[in-house]
Amino acid sequence: MPPTSLRPTTVPPTYVDANRLWVDSRPRALVQQRFEAPVLLRLGGPVTGGRTLELGSGRRGTGLRLALDLFGAARADGVELHPPSAAACRDAVRDLGDRVEVQIGDATALTAAAGSYDAVFGYHVLHHAVAWRDVVREAARVLRPGGRLFSCEMTARIVDSRPLRAVSRHPSDGDRPTPAGLAAACSAAGLTVTGQETRFAGCWTALVATKQ
Ligand SMILES: C[S@@+](CC[C@H](N)C(=O)[O-])C[C@H]1O[C@@H](n2cnc3c(N)ncnc32)[C@H](O)[C@@H]1O
Repeated sequence: MPPTSLRPTTVPPTYVDANRLWVDSRPRALVQQRFEAPVLLRLGGPVTGGRTLELGSGRRGTGLRLALDLFGAARADGVELHPPSAAACRDAVRDLGDRVEVQIGDATALTAAAGSYDAVFGYHVLHHAVAWRDVVREAARVLRPGGRLFSCEMTARIVDSRPLRAVSRHPSDGDRPTPAGLAAACSAAGLTVTGQETRFAGCWTALVATKQ
């Protein structure tokens, strides 16, 4: 766990919700392609020929495309809570044909059968989910033994900082992933953390965890 001084005790107010300027933007996709996914690949390795699920795939489907093109998966499914985002995502990945399927759904209660995926990806879904520990539990449930969770997150330290919070709305329960908290939630869900890299003064973490 980070020192108590780095953990939020209250959630500061939000004055303007400017999430849309960054979430699903082209610059955001570039960060995911050029920085985040390569870190995850280095930490966890490829998923060659595998079946993958991305939680909170957003409007662009960048993570789905990366699962196929960078990680070498044969199939990439997406689950997205927000119906208009799921529809936009389907349009964005239409060229990938039947290798990709995007469903409207809640990552805290997945419909997929237990053990049905070789890898689950989550790029910045946990800090947007109200019950992020349930998302980790569900990811663990749908992974086959030996399957891997790949997660990239902005942590509580930045999400609940006063400047970011003032312009960016997130669930207000104050229970946000920290690097250590995410690793602990993975362990509690039956996953072994096999790689983690935390950067930017603890504001960003990438983690790979394998199901026993
Ligand atoms: C910050 S955006 C990240 C989008 C994309 N993964 C990326 O990295 O650019 C978080 C996404 O997670 C979705 N989301 C939030 N809670 C969710 C949940 N419980 N189940 C599925 N998707 C969820 C949001 O609708 C949003 O599209």
